[in-house]
Amino acid sequence: MSSLHRRQFISSLTLAGAAVALSPRAFAIGGTKPDKLKVGVIGCGGRGTGALNDFREAAKILGIPVEVTALGDAFASQAVALGAKVGVAPARCFGGFDSYQKVIASGCDYVIMATPPAFRPIHFAAAVDAGKHCFIEKPVAVDPAGARSVIATGVKAQSKGLAVVAGTQRRHAAEYQRNKALIDAGAIGAIRGGVVQWNGVVPWTKRRNAGESDADYMARNWVNFTEMSGDHIVEQHVHNLDVAVWFLGRLPVSAVGFGGRARRETGNQFDFFSVDYDFGDGVHIHSQCRQISGTWSRVGEFFTGAEGTAFGGGKIAGKAVQVAAIKLEAENAYVQEHVELIKGVIAGKPMNEAKQVAESTAVAIMGRMSSYSGELVRWSDMMEDTQSPFYQLTCKPTALDFERNTVTLAPEVAAVPGK
Ligand SMILES: NC(=O)c1ccc[n+]([C@@H]2O[C@H](COP(=O)([O-])OP(=O)(O)OC[C@H]3O[C@@H](n4cnc5c(N)ncnc54)[C@H](O)[C@@H]3O)[C@@H](O)[C@H]2O)c1
Repeated sequence: MSSLHRRQFISSLTLAGAAVALSPRAFAIGGTKPDKLKVGVIGCGGRGTGALNDFREAAKILGIPVEVTALGDAFASQAVALGAKVGVAPARCFGGFDSYQKVIASGCDYVIMATPPAFRPIHFAAAVDAGKHCFIEKPVAVDPAGARSVIATGVKAQSKGLAVVAGTQRRHAAEYQRNKALIDAGAIGAIRGGVVQWNGVVPWTKRRNAGESDADYMARNWVNFTEMSGDHIVEQHVHNLDVAVWFLGRLPVSAVGFGGRARRETGNQFDFFSVDYDFGDGVHIHSQCRQISGTWSRVGEFFTGAEGTAFGGGKIAGKAVQVAAIKLEAENAYVQEHVELIKGVIAGKPMNEAKQVAESTAVAIMGRMSSYSGELVRWSDMMEDTQSPFYQLTCKPTALDFERNTVTLAPEVAAVPGK
């Protein structure tokens, strides 16, 4: 078969395997549906608002009413503003860095966590200790200790029969699931290499207000501080690195990264990274991410196999293989992840994505640490070798510093490799 014909065959197969959105009536969950789903939200910004909406959409597909038991945010005004939109009284909208405790104690069964990632490990641990099913936005940590903590909490959640679904929504998207299935079935042969990219712009910048505390400034301007976001290789690009880990089915052995700060105006992050991830067996994935306006942009993944090529959720060119049609309840992956969260709980088969999202977060942190330090960083340095300085690295101020009111502003100076 010519390569053109092969390509055509794969794309028609791809269409045949596209998502089929099921109507609520056609969908059987298994298990007993509860009268309602009680949910609380920690972090009421853009994604907390969006994820609550997605949870409600998922519940609608499953035909179950939702009660929002409480909303929490570092800033009470954020929680109250979301409460006004979704019908939660101000008395159930909590402010402060300890507001997560009030949300968890509000009688909910599900907790949506959408604060800056620095807080995820302690919020997730508290929610699991209290027996809650969790939706944890990505990334889930900013340092290796945080990633290891999320893995440990995920194990605890499993032992308690709790569900954990992460905001790495590509894993819940039909087009990505289809390509993963095609690749696993041999459509492009073994993956030999690839490139994953998130090249875009700085999402936003918030200047310090007169008289504002160090803690409030860092929490408001969190996408510019490594201690809060993990830097954009972790905060944004984790999505694409997660696809690489998922499609390859293994973790990288080591990373060697470059990066720098050209035009960022606040905080201490880099604005570009270029990292070579060594996945062993001669397979390397090039990771690129940049947040600089006026530059070439692309978000996506591309893999070269021994017998073809594949975009993450796009076109595949290679051998003709058969895979089953993907049947999802929602066309929108952001909604589908909540369908799977709820459905798994009701069916008594809770989904648990804690380890996979913590590992992908750690892969991104590994690239950052290599780029900041100029060193080759091994997976074992971060996750296994307790004597390694990378294993011990903790970003400061920590989440607990915010709760205890012991925050000192992290210097607004970027790392210099080799120093
Ligand atoms: N899956 C996706 O596609 C996707 C998209 C956007 C954001 N995200 C992730 O969602 C999370 C939130 O991002 P966002 O865009 O909503 O940011 P945002 O700034 O709009 O919202 C974050 C909110 O958290 C609050 N907050 C800060 N510290 C807190 C604390 N300790 N306790 C309670 N509230 C706190 C802030 O005041 C703010 O209202 C991040 O981890 C981000 O990476 C995921």
